[in-house]
Amino acid sequence: MKSVSANTQSKKLAGRKAADFVEDGMQIGIGTGSTVAFFIEELGRRIRQGWQIRGAATSCYTRLLCHRSGIPIMDSMTLDHLDLAVDGADEIDPSLNAIKGGGAAHTCEKVIASMADEFILIADESKLVSGLCMHHPLPVEVIPAALSLAEKRIRSLGGTPCIRRAVCKDGPVITENGNFILDITFQTAPEDLELLDIQLKKIPGLLETGLFLGMAQKALIGSVDSVHILLPEA
Ligand code: A5P
Repeated sequence: MKSVSANTQSKKLAGRKAADFVEDGMQIGIGTGSTVAFFIEELGRRIRQGWQIRGAATSCYTRLLCHRSGIPIMDSMTLDHLDLAVDGADEIDPSLNAIKGGGAAHTCEKVIASMADEFILIADESKLVSGLCMHHPLPVEVIPAALSLAEKRIRSLGGTPCIRRAVCKDGPVITENGNFILDITFQTAPEDLELLDIQLKKIPGLLETGLFLGMAQKALIGSVDSVHILLPEA
């Protein structure tokens, strides 16, 4: 579920800045979204200068953008290690915990980020929050057979699930894995995100949550004219 208050200039600065952390010869995880699109553009520029970079894409659309920018893409099925992964976020807290999945790609995004020696979030400053899950719903990917069970269990955990609907198609969003996305809202901020993540993943058929806890080593936050590098607060 994307925010419409996207700040294109801030995203562009953050996305381009991320390319400064890439070295020639690296294998890079490449996230999904409008901020990552600027990162891909910049990587493409470096490839045209002769850099030998290879990418692992987190979605079909990212694969297409990489192809058009001349970035060779590896099959993530054959990978278990990457030098760096760069991805956008829907919310980022001061510890650099994040909510992802606004583009319904968080399952693959988490796999790719987990392979990397370093994981960098890129975002505009509207994504910074003091606590997760109060402004942006938490997405979870659920296999079709588990939909009603997952809705019931999520309600028992205090959340309100909503099936994500497609924008230019009737009916629900179907992920690249053939599943539904439930966007969960909470009346009050969940106190223990680690526990919430564990409880959600215990629901049979719930494939992955959009909680990225303790995964990012830094966040590049773009504003209209600069980029701030954030490190996780202890
Ligand atoms: C994709 O599923 C998401 O995790 C995106 O990375 C996230 O929604 C950020 O997207 P934007 O860069 O378009 O804001």
